[in-house]
Amino acid sequence: MLIKQPLDIRPSDITDEKVYLSRRQFMRSTAAVVAAGAAPALLSQGVLARENASRQVWVRKIEAQIAAARKSPFSTSEEKTPFDDVLEYNNFYEFGTSKSDPYENSEQFEIQPWAIKVEGACHKPGTYHLEDLVKESQLEERIYRLRCVEAWSMVIPWVGIPLASLLKRFEPTMNAKYVAFETVVRPEQMPGQKSLFSSIDWPYREGLRIDEAMHPLTLAAVGLYGKILPNQNGAPIRLVVPWKYGFKSIKSIVAIRFVEEEPYTTWNNIAPNEYGFYANVNPKVDHPRWSQKSERRLPGGLFGPKRIETQMFNGYAEQVASLYSGMDLQANY
Ligand code: MTE
Repeated sequence: MLIKQPLDIRPSDITDEKVYLSRRQFMRSTAAVVAAGAAPALLSQGVLARENASRQVWVRKIEAQIAAARKSPFSTSEEKTPFDDVLEYNNFYEFGTSKSDPYENSEQFEIQPWAIKVEGACHKPGTYHLEDLVKESQLEERIYRLRCVEAWSMVIPWVGIPLASLLKRFEPTMNAKYVAFETVVRPEQMPGQKSLFSSIDWPYREGLRIDEAMHPLTLAAVGLYGKILPNQNGAPIRLVVPWKYGFKSIKSIVAIRFVEEEPYTTWNNIAPNEYGFYANVNPKVDHPRWSQKSERRLPGGLFGPKRIETQMFNGYAEQVASLYSGMDLQANY
């Protein structure tokens, strides 16, 4: 997807999550200091230890839930891409543009605490902590094909909750025609966001029509291969929209906005003639620079890449084709 010409880099306008979280930590520490009336240095050590302990507790809790995830009838029985390939061949431009960069550069990325800001056309806007959003939900394992617009694909056992069940908690109104999503901005932990050659105007943004977002196949994933989502795969929460090209499946989400108009989306904005808003997998509509008729299923075999034919809607036509009935899919690519 690399686009050669560097565009102007504008500073991110998303500071709220960081401000919110540091304020939360500050208030917790201050309350502890005042209550105890003891030496601040000692106390802040205590607070840090407690923060670490609560992080461990959270990770253990979510891992137990992930391990207990129920199987889904939506899963494919195709051979899964080995764990190592899922971990080491990624697109996550926040950590760099080469496929191994996310694996190599994301170790220091902090996923706890994690908050999601919910705004726009809904009755329950606010800032929600991930543990509150995931704890009551029942997690499912969904083995899905992932088809990248670059014509490679994998089969990944995600664990997550249907996005619809998450979104319904915020009670969207009739004006919510689309849902917009944003990835966290943390240049200090995400080297790709500091790069002067990046073509992306951070934060990475994506969006879906509300009926696409509410479709039973659309998943908010928090795990894969029975484990907590690795940083390079979009920890701690990402979208998985299996009938669309992979770039719609935005990682490390910190903002959800219910809107009336089609929202700004990153790749569509960078190169609208190459990456449409819909981005439905479609072997009949080629990318201007390459064919979309077939794909390279990863990993390759002993005798080179494994080429397979690309299926309409990535093989999910039976479930999703009706979302687009009467729509010209050549024009709305
Ligand atoms: N989300 C963010 N925030 N940044 C990205 O660069 N890349 C997208 C998508 N989500 C991307 C992102 C693309 S192009 C693909 S193909 C998938 O993530 C890849 O997901 P994976 O690395 O878990 O296989």
